[in-house]
Amino acid sequence: MKKPFKVKRKKPSYGVYDTYSILILLILTILLTGIFLMIDNLIVKFGSLIFFIAIFFFLFPPIFGSTNFAKMKLREKIINVAQPKENDVILDVGTGRGLHAIGFAKALEKCKVIGIDVWSQTSLSGNRMEKALENAKIEGVSEKVEFKNADARELPFLDEYFDVVVCSFVLHNIGKNWRKALKDMIRVLKTNGKLVIAEIGYGLFSKKNMIDALEKANASAIHFHSWGFGGNIISAVKTPAYRQRDDKK
Ligand SMILES: C[S@@+](CC[C@H](N)C(=O)[O-])C[C@H]1O[C@@H](n2cnc3c(N)ncnc32)[C@H](O)[C@@H]1O
Repeated sequence: MKKPFKVKRKKPSYGVYDTYSILILLILTILLTGIFLMIDNLIVKFGSLIFFIAIFFFLFPPIFGSTNFAKMKLREKIINVAQPKENDVILDVGTGRGLHAIGFAKALEKCKVIGIDVWSQTSLSGNRMEKALENAKIEGVSEKVEFKNADARELPFLDEYFDVVVCSFVLHNIGKNWRKALKDMIRVLKTNGKLVIAEIGYGLFSKKNMIDALEKANASAIHFHSWGFGGNIISAVKTPAYRQRDDKK
C-alpha cells in the first residue's frame, strides 16, 4: 500500500531569552557545584546543593518563559491587557522575532503594526529581522506588520502617533539608559493611549522603580498584572497634557 503524503507545516519560532547569560550561568553553576561536591566536607556539600537550587529558581523564569507555550500565554495576556481596537496603530518595541507585533496583527482584522529592534545577538537566540519576517509569513499577517531597525531610546516616529505601545522584556537589555527608552515610548503614544510593558520585576525593574520611572515619563493609571512565569506585566496610559500641567503646579 502506498504511504500517504505528509506535508510538514512550519511553525513560528520566537527564540530563547537572554541565551548567553543563561548558558554561561548554567555552565558556571554546574562547574562550581561539581567542584564543591568533591570537597570532603558535609557543610560545603550541603551549601553547594543549596546554591544549585537557588540558581535553578533564578533561571526558571527565563528558561520556561522561553518555551513556545509560555510565549503564547504572554502574548495573549499582553493583548488582553492592552485591549486594542480595530484600526489601531501599534508599536512593538524590541520586537525580536516578532512575537507581539504578529500577535496583535492576528488579533485584529484591521490594524497597522510596527516592530522595531536593533536585533542584538545576546538577548534572544536567532535574533534577526528575517526571522521576524518569516514568522509573520508563517502566521499569515505579512501585510499588516512592518519591521524597522531602530533604537528604543530614539524612536523614529512623530509624537502621539500610536494607540498602543508594547515592550516585552527589553528594558533590562537596554542597560542604564532604559528610562530614556520609556520616555520615548510615552512620547510616541497618543494621549490616553495604552503602554504595556513586561519586565523582570527585580533590581532596577522593581515595582517601586517602575512606578517612579513611569510617573516621571508622564504615564498614569499604572497597574501590575501577573502571568505565571515570572516578571511583571505593567499597563499605563499617557497622561493628558492638562493633567501634566496641573501635576506640576
Ligand atoms: C529578550 S528579547 C525580547 C524580544 C521580544 N520582545 C519577545 O518578548 O519575544 C529583547 C529584545 O530587545 C532588543 N533590544 C535591546 N536593546 C534595544 C534597543 N536599545 N533598542 C531596540 N531594541 C533593543 C534586543 O535586540 C531583543 O530583540
